[in-house]
Amino acid sequence: MHGPLTPEPYRVVGRREEVGDVVTLSLEPCTDGASGTYAHGQFNMLTAFGVGEVALSIAGSAGTSGLIEHSVRDVGAVTHALCTVPAGAVVGLRGPFGNGWGIERLPDGPDVVVVAGGIGLAPLRSAVGDLVVREREGRGRVFVVAGARSPDQVLYGDDLDAWRLSGSDVVVTVDVGTPGWEGPVGVVTTVLPDLAFEPGGAWALTCGPEIMMRFVARALVECGVEPARILVSLERNMQCGIGICGHCQLGPLLVCRDGPVVPYGGVADRLLVERGR
Ligand SMILES: Cc1cc2nc3c(=O)[nH]c(=O)nc-3n(C[C@H](O)[C@H](O)[C@H](O)COP(=O)(O)OP(=O)(O)OC[C@H]3O[C@@H](n4cnc5c(N)ncnc54)[C@H](O)[C@@H]3O)c2cc1C
Ligand code: FES
Repeated sequence: MHGPLTPEPYRVVGRREEVGDVVTLSLEPCTDGASGTYAHGQFNMLTAFGVGEVALSIAGSAGTSGLIEHSVRDVGAVTHALCTVPAGAVVGLRGPFGNGWGIERLPDGPDVVVVAGGIGLAPLRSAVGDLVVREREGRGRVFVVAGARSPDQVLYGDDLDAWRLSGSDVVVTVDVGTPGWEGPVGVVTTVLPDLAFEPGGAWALTCGPEIMMRFVARALVECGVEPARILVSLERNMQCGIGICGHCQLGPLLVCRDGPVVPYGGVADRLLVERGR
């Protein structure tokens, strides 16, 4: 039995080029005993052997097989190594870590608004999958706003279509339109006032660049959503992932242990403002 600091070997059994510089890897444990269980919004630490280790949100899984999906944006040495890893290769994985969105604790009834920017849809993808099922059961309407730089950068297009077909209100907005694009153009906050959700009692889940989350949270508060019901997913440089090393310290929080999901009201509102200065 390995400790939480030792990566387990996982084989890359699938590799899908998403949009732009994002690749989704499907990983299968090389050894028995990996459960594949996680909470929506948790993250794993992935190792590209010989290069390094990075934190990556869990973007999905396949039932009880232990198969797990990560979408990786190529921004530096480790993410580049992971984005270019061939099918059949072995990477290291430890986790899951962090808390997650806690959607299983949401009360039945109120609307749920999900706002994502770019790769920020990764930690929300499996949560929305369950929220959509929940909506079909009459337990709360779902509104999804996904922002992308341009139409060719819209992540998880098939999932967005499937959620829409299932009856959820899904809006995709782009910063810059291209010929043929008929959807809205503008940052995610521009479409929030037009969403037909009921703010009283509503919950909101948001992930994306920090500045986006700050403006989204403020816009939702202006729409009438209670700040404590707005959940944001924070990103910090992670090393241990389990609250030992202090690398992810943000104010009073260790983001790996106390987050990455925190309520905007009372915690993230102060921290995001401090970071924005
Ligand atoms: C909880 C958590 C969940 C995450 N989930 C995902 C995920 O699902 N998918 C994913 O692709 N990434 C995710 N990240 C971000 C990912 O961990 C970083 O992109 C990664 O650590 C960068 O490492 P690197 O060695 O490739 O690049 P580095 O060499 O560390 O950085 C290269 C350059 O990219 C910049 N950079 C670093 N991180 C980011 C970033 N997040 N966005 C833009 N520029 C950056 C650096 O400032 C530097 O200029 C997550 C981070 C956290 C903390
Ligand atoms: S990453 Fe080490 S304490 Fe959070």
